[in-house]
Amino acid sequence: MMNTSALDAVLAQVDQGLDASLERLKALLRIPSISTDPAFAQDCRRAADWLVADLQGLGFEAAARPTPGHPIVVAHGPQTPGPHVLFYGHYDVQPVDPLALWHTDPFEPVIKEGPEGRTIIVGRGASDDKGQLMTFLEACRAWKAATGSLPVRVSVMLEGEEESGGKNLPGFMRANAQELRADVALVCDTDMWDRQTPSITSMLRGLVGEEITVTCANKDLHSGMFGNAARNPNQVVADIVASLRAPDGSVTLEGFYDDVPEITPELRAQWEGLGFDEAAFLGSVGLSIPAGEAGRSVLETIWSRPTCEINGIWGGYTGDGFKTVIPSQASAKISFRLVGNMDPDKIRAAFRRHVEARIPADCTVTFKEHGGSPAVTVPSEGIYLRQALKALTDEWNKPAVITGSGGSIPVAGEFKSILGRDTLLIGFAHVDDAIHSPNEKYDLESFHRGIRAWVRVLAAFADSAKA
Ligand code: BES
Ligand code: MN
Ligand code: MN
Repeated sequence: MMNTSALDAVLAQVDQGLDASLERLKALLRIPSISTDPAFAQDCRRAADWLVADLQGLGFEAAARPTPGHPIVVAHGPQTPGPHVLFYGHYDVQPVDPLALWHTDPFEPVIKEGPEGRTIIVGRGASDDKGQLMTFLEACRAWKAATGSLPVRVSVMLEGEEESGGKNLPGFMRANAQELRADVALVCDTDMWDRQTPSITSMLRGLVGEEITVTCANKDLHSGMFGNAARNPNQVVADIVASLRAPDGSVTLEGFYDDVPEITPELRAQWEGLGFDEAAFLGSVGLSIPAGEAGRSVLETIWSRPTCEINGIWGGYTGDGFKTVIPSQASAKISFRLVGNMDPDKIRAAFRRHVEARIPADCTVTFKEHGGSPAVTVPSEGIYLRQALKALTDEWNKPAVITGSGGSIPVAGEFKSILGRDTLLIGFAHVDDAIHSPNEKYDLESFHRGIRAWVRVLAAFADSAKA
């Protein structure tokens, strides 16, 4: 066994260094690394450089590696015997709009009292994913400070385009597969089951993003002079959008459910055992009536059923006042979340056929693709998983559970398909963190116990090598 006094010393180091850890997190949060907006490209670069310097300070060989987009930070700790882990996080963040709804500057992090007397840190990226990725780096720092070294070999890969499609990562991983191949990949970008219960996520949904623009007349028209005679693209887009779901909540694309498996009775029983509170979940966002496929539980529809969501619709006049116009163009952004073996290319093609069949012969449609990735299922057994579950259980004093997730983290699939490695998805976020939303926050408890949890996970991996 890892000598327990070493582990205790590292955990004590975490507790004692927490204020300094928070200062470093704040410094990273002050950099507005919004990857989707070219105006912030320099800031993405600055965030990457900041992380490189931090990792070098921890004794890693680190560099910001160029891509056609934002750099990817890659770092390698010293060679040690035993397992080699590759940690992944992303340093880019979502845009801050609507800015008016923030109570404080999104890039001037503040620590304050949150709901139920909890202490929180507020700022864009506090949870997704700067707060989460820093839990791992701070765990490495504590190991170094308390014992002079890391208990296992650690490599780190930090992406700067996760929130904007992540186009350059797969190519980078393919080109550097030899260098990046470790025994197991760790990703810190997911939630806990609830405030007291740590979890490892075993399923993520995939994603297909599509944007359509429908053009009817060759210019905007007076809606009195042309109304009834000229086709209205807003109507065409609305009809298409409305046709995507049947009244029972199912998605109508041809073949949509072909590769969707039913969950096993064992998994269903395990999920039921988690005791999910549907009313509280919907109530927390001001709703009470589940949408989606009839006859399935909310948890099941989020974790194991595909969805079609209309993320944006626009066209015509939406400013103040009123304008009687038939616009020339209208658009929509639509995403599909995939499960099981659904193939992103096949779903995209089915969607395009569905749309094309509904475009009047004298109108046109153009498509813009916004990424695609399949669903990910990670094995729910194995030595690293068992060790990690135990480490989380020890930290929270409550058995860690295995959960699904409705979100998408494409890199988890790429670790398998490109590097041939399984991923452990371990995160400390909470559903009320408001990721992608105004006033994003991370609980100080998530940050603190997250660091302590990684300290324990690394210790457990070192042990598993000796066992
Ligand atoms: N960290 C999230 C994914 C996530 C959210 C996992 C909540 C588990 C719980 C990640 O940064 C994200 O936002 N992913 C995007 C997909 C990406 C391709 C734009 C998503 O899920 O929409
Ligand atoms: Mn994320
Ligand atoms: Mn995100």
